[in-house]
Amino acid sequence: MGTSEWHIERRASFGSESTIAREPGNVPESGSLSIVVLGASGDLAKKKTFPALFHLYRQGFLPPDEVHIFGYARTKISDDELRDRLRGYLVPEKGASAQQLEDLEKFLKLIKYVCGSYDSEDGFRLLDKEISEHEYLKNSVEGLSRRLFYLALPPSVYPSVCKMIKTCCMNKSDLGGWTRVVVEKPFGRDLQSAEELSTEIGKLFEEPQIYRIDHYLGKELVQNLLVLRFANRFFLPLWNRDNIDNVQIVFREDFGTEGRGGYFDQYGIIRDIIQNHLLQVLCLVAMEKPVSLKPEHIRDEKVKVLESVLPIRDDEVVLGQYEGYTDDPTVPDESNTPTFATVILRIHNERWEGKALNSRKAEIRVQFKDVPGDIFKCQKQGRNEFVIRLQPSEAIYMKLTVKQPGLEMSAVQSELDLSYGQRYQGVTIPEAYERLILDTIRGDQQHFVRRDELKASWQIFTPLLHRIDDGDFKPILYKPGSRGPREADQLLEQAGYVQT
Ligand code: NDP
Ligand code: BG6
Repeated sequence: MGTSEWHIERRASFGSESTIAREPGNVPESGSLSIVVLGASGDLAKKKTFPALFHLYRQGFLPPDEVHIFGYARTKISDDELRDRLRGYLVPEKGASAQQLEDLEKFLKLIKYVCGSYDSEDGFRLLDKEISEHEYLKNSVEGLSRRLFYLALPPSVYPSVCKMIKTCCMNKSDLGGWTRVVVEKPFGRDLQSAEELSTEIGKLFEEPQIYRIDHYLGKELVQNLLVLRFANRFFLPLWNRDNIDNVQIVFREDFGTEGRGGYFDQYGIIRDIIQNHLLQVLCLVAMEKPVSLKPEHIRDEKVKVLESVLPIRDDEVVLGQYEGYTDDPTVPDESNTPTFATVILRIHNERWEGKALNSRKAEIRVQFKDVPGDIFKCQKQGRNEFVIRLQPSEAIYMKLTVKQPGLEMSAVQSELDLSYGQRYQGVTIPEAYERLILDTIRGDQQHFVRRDELKASWQIFTPLLHRIDDGDFKPILYKPGSRGPREADQLLEQAGYVQT
């Protein structure tokens, strides 16, 4: 019986859903739309959430006669101070066009800041009052109220914030609309805490109201996986253990914790990247064809993959920590937190039996088995590989063996290359957060994580995480700017990966 190995790697150096039943794609809704960014003073809000909202605004998805944006946090700042903080993140400091600058000022006028705590009703009552005033002023359809709450906050405050939203800020209109809550990752620290969090939030909101965001699901080439796999005849018979030797899902960053050391040390690389972003990618690479593109059909198939992952073996894990990580004043000197991990995952099902570096990239490498009875052995340079580069410079390419052009009959490895920058010149690839926020407004949960998916993904990593938390599994030190621990490359080799 053939086996296929899955290498997952992250390397770093340093109420009711709606009173109007609606399927995504139906007639677009109109009426007031309030988008509330909780944690508006934070890193994610300024770097990702507000810029995504600005891009949507510029493309006409957030019409100013319907939309108002509220920033909420404890930091005592005025509307203008929040706007000043955001300006530099929304347009390039140099070279912004006159049109961009004009749009920027119009967009910033849509933003109101409300200051309050995350666990007392005063702030949320004030927020509700502001939202209601906006709804009253902007309603093109009488009484329609759409309220989107984006929790750009540490997960520790999700329960109290959800409770406050439920108590003070729900859509109250009888005539239509909805209240939706977007929660960020990491959702929990392990299986038990994630389930407890799900249960607490589940008491307040129905599953269709909860959008567990994983921004990797909003990346262009991650979204392309379904199309590539299921709309191309030549992949269908090949995509299995008989033909594929191993799949590597690689994530590398050439920078360290960058001011997020306190957060990172609490979580580590497995909780920050692997349990969520990379496991979601794995699901899309390994799952069976869904019955349709309906969110539930796709998510059903993803859960099956997660539930088929065999327990992780200690000898198939290499953990690393870059030298100098503990120099960060927010990281304890004795920290055991991995900043690097290579983990082999084996999928047990009929299709499949069986992770201060030198670069920044995320890619999926599907490596095929050697050709049986190969007659070009002495000249052949490598195996067939199908590579999907998620970032930077999105590309899909296939490494294959061809005849070296010329008089000699020799084989050489080459690429069939679909580089997006060349093939789709002039096309702007939307940012992941842009796409996903638009999905939440449209009520499309296809690219969001369902509760059972979350549970199954924590199930895979919790035993390993507990052993790391208890100090039983120690990371190997590696030099910032290197490839990571040498042991990781050795592990990949043992697992069958051949450098091409
Ligand atoms: P921050 O640490 O910047 O926190 C956001 C805001 O939350 C802060 O401005 C602060 O606002 C408030 N806050 C911070 N710590 C606490 C606390 N202990 N108790 C109550 N309030 C607190 O986080 P990020 O913006 O980086 O991340 C927000 C969420 O998004 C997290 O879940 C994170 O994992 C996730 N995420 C972040 C990414 C990023 O690139 N930053 C990427 C992907 C996900 P104030 O004090 O004004 O109330
Ligand atoms: C976030 C992690 O979820 O993803 C960060 O918390 C990481 O540590 C980031 O840097 C990577 O996202 P991207 O889109 O830059 O690959």
